[in-house]
Amino acid sequence: MSESAERAPLPPGPDGLPVVGSFLRFRRDPFAFYDDLREYGDVVAYRMLGYDMCSVLDPAAVEAVLLDDADAYRKPDLLGDALDDYMTEGVLLTEGDQWRAQRSTLQPMFYRERVEAYGDLMAAYARDAAADWADGGDVDLQAAASEYTLRVLARTLLDADLGEHADAVRGFADAVREIGRAGSLAAQLPRWVPLPSRRRHRRAFERFDGVVADLVEDRRDGRPTDGGGPADLLSLLLAAEYPDGSTPSRTEVRDQLMTFLFAGHDTTSLALTWAFVLLNRRPAAYDRLRAEVDATVDGDRATVADLERLPYTDRVAKEVLRLRPPAGALFREPREDVELAGYRVPEGTMVVLPQFAVHTDPRFYDDPETFRPERWTDGLEDDLPDYAYFPFGGGPRHCIGMRFAALELRLALATLVANVDVDVRDPDVDPALGSPFEPADDVRAVVTER
Ligand code: HEM
Repeated sequence: MSESAERAPLPPGPDGLPVVGSFLRFRRDPFAFYDDLREYGDVVAYRMLGYDMCSVLDPAAVEAVLLDDADAYRKPDLLGDALDDYMTEGVLLTEGDQWRAQRSTLQPMFYRERVEAYGDLMAAYARDAAADWADGGDVDLQAAASEYTLRVLARTLLDADLGEHADAVRGFADAVREIGRAGSLAAQLPRWVPLPSRRRHRRAFERFDGVVADLVEDRRDGRPTDGGGPADLLSLLLAAEYPDGSTPSRTEVRDQLMTFLFAGHDTTSLALTWAFVLLNRRPAAYDRLRAEVDATVDGDRATVADLERLPYTDRVAKEVLRLRPPAGALFREPREDVELAGYRVPEGTMVVLPQFAVHTDPRFYDDPETFRPERWTDGLEDDLPDYAYFPFGGGPRHCIGMRFAALELRLALATLVANVDVDVRDPDVDPALGSPFEPADDVRAVVTER
């Protein structure tokens, strides 16, 4: 630790409150709790049932944690042994040299041309989704959107139809979602909160492991790729070689696939879900989006080339990720005592970067709680401080799937809007505080063909 960090004071915070007091206030109204924290400043320390927490509400301090001093922090182990060692060799959870080697090996998968090559598939599946939803009439939007993103991922990661392995992939995705929910709660709740059914999760992991084993076997038998290089993540991993000449182990291949299914699935589907919730809250914005899509999209699906001519669709997507950032909050832990914005943050503190709070800070956004896609005109982006908007995180560990997600969200939105009307029954549904940042209730919608 530097000398200045040693001398720096601890961050201010609601120390006076008894420990249980903080927790109860948090439980009663977590958003009000965060609003209250702002009164103490931009870097606020508090204790919550066993944890030393530190919330960071200032963009410059967020930038320090994610970018400038990124090496001084690690990702905390929120999921603990709930994962049974699955996924731990995936790029979301590894650290140091292992993470660096993985990240650069995986990066080509996310080059612009490769991601854009998936555009047709993303739109075609969105058109299928529109037809399915309209058939069903009343739809559980979050579940339906999640089915859509899972289908896209199965094809792009595994080159597999969800149909073949639907139960195993869905079972795995559900298990990780439950664990993720519990894990993010673990960052906010006491350690004794029990994690949900371990045995069921283990079975889901084992089944998925079996699917991956079959797929690897298949691929080794020389299944064709697209000729211009590996077509999907699985092929890329099987062909990969690290700088030291080693190749990803069988466990690592499995863990990377699990990681990408986990990280790429609920995030994008939540963004789609929230998009329709928020559009229903602002009918004028929904009308404007429909008008833009009708004037631009020819036929029943949007194309990558259309996107340039869909500026309002782009603003809708940006505004959704501002107001309802699917990750909700990011978490870090200093490797040793660090200095942050002039304060000392002790090793082991749970540093919380609450996107939902920074993205609605009235210092940076007018009328911050209102869904207003138009705000993204007139140079707002130039005026915003860096890291006042960070839905995909930042620094070296920013979302590797950012370009993929941004494309999928826009193409799916435009294609769905071109084909169906989505009438959300309760557009006032609130988010539940957590990571992911989900609706507090099921989002039911009546979907009709246009
Ligand atoms: C709207 C959709 C998405 C959002 C909002 C989102 C958000 C994020 C955020 C905030 C992080 C950083 C977490 C941290 O620093 O603690 C992250 C990391 C990551 N995301 Fe995404 N994500 C999305 C979609 C995707 C997709 C589609 C994929 C893959 C196909 C993906 C794969 C990953 C991976 C592998 C990481 C870990 C990167 C690393 O640590 O090096 N994400 N994402």
